[in-house]
Amino acid sequence: MNSRVAVVGVGGWGKNHARVLSELGVLAAICDINPERIVKYSGMYGVPGYTSVDRMLERERIDAAVVATPTSTHVQVALRLIEEGKHVLVEKPLAPTSDESRLIVEKAKDVGAILASGYIERFNPAVRELRDIMEKGRLGSPLFAEFHRESRRPAHIVDVGILHDTVVHDIDTARWLLGEPNKVYARLGRIAGPHEDYATLIMEFDEPRTAVLTANWITPKKERRMTLVFSGGIATVNFVEATLRIDDEGGGWEPRIERKEPLKAELENFIDAVHGGAKPLITGEDALRTTLVAEAAEESARLSKPMEVPRS
Ligand SMILES: NC(=O)c1ccc[n+]([C@@H]2O[C@H](COP(=O)([O-])OP(=O)(O)OC[C@H]3O[C@@H](n4cnc5c(N)ncnc54)[C@H](O)[C@@H]3O)[C@@H](O)[C@H]2O)c1
Repeated sequence: MNSRVAVVGVGGWGKNHARVLSELGVLAAICDINPERIVKYSGMYGVPGYTSVDRMLERERIDAAVVATPTSTHVQVALRLIEEGKHVLVEKPLAPTSDESRLIVEKAKDVGAILASGYIERFNPAVRELRDIMEKGRLGSPLFAEFHRESRRPAHIVDVGILHDTVVHDIDTARWLLGEPNKVYARLGRIAGPHEDYATLIMEFDEPRTAVLTANWITPKKERRMTLVFSGGIATVNFVEATLRIDDEGGGWEPRIERKEPLKAELENFIDAVHGGAKPLITGEDALRTTLVAEAAEESARLSKPMEVPRS
């Protein structure tokens, strides 16, 4: 039997969830406090639309929901859905603080709900291919990673700064490829807007692995790339183009990558977890760990010293 999945928050990103879930034949309802968006997307996808989560829960039989509301509202919306026994995929970051993230993780555990989060780069075909190559040991041991994530300021993001909105993507990818970091050192700064809009982090893993993450909302074009240096070669990922280049003893080569929309892969993984009860690729605990790194980075920038990263 097909799952019935709702999307809460059909703004800039949630509308993509609605489109893909509709393509997958599982979109059951949408919810947004903005009535114009409800009219537009419920018309477009032929599903009921609501301006309140409570009303949607009263009226609709749904198994699961995607939460794509602004980050500061995730905890309230996600807890309401989980309390009703719904499985949830909460967009990244799970919440702006580890305390709120933990509340969501614990509530999901209490009621036995699947909890996934939207760290979509794990579904980027270039990142998946690199991880496969790493698992086969073809490039030797990873030594050093460098991430760049730069763009103009997204004017509508006002509740969190670049660290919790944007750098978290690279923190998650670094954790997925290099393991859990022990320490982080960060410098953050603000040019415009209410929160920090540029950030540099050094993440320290078990010897000899290090990652340097740099991000800003100042660069007038979109840059999202990573270079990973191994004992036996270098891998370069362009996250936007989903390309991977390897340079090793044999010269430079680009593995053939099977194209698939990352959001489709992410939602299929979530739906499989809802059906089969398996773990989603990105669990609530994963998302909590990423927020713990971001918080340690905030503290590091405040105190101007490296901070230990708590494990839970
Ligand atoms: N995984 C990714 O690559 C990715 C990309 C973009 C955004 N995001 C995340 O998605 C979330 C939304 O970002 P966005 O850029 O789409 O924001 P947005 O402001 O464009 O959209 C948010 C939508 O939520 C609605 N909303 C607000 N409060 C609500 C509530 N209580 N109940 C129902 N609807 C509510 C708003 O009316 C709006 O339509 C953020 O957490 C962001 O970090 C993830």
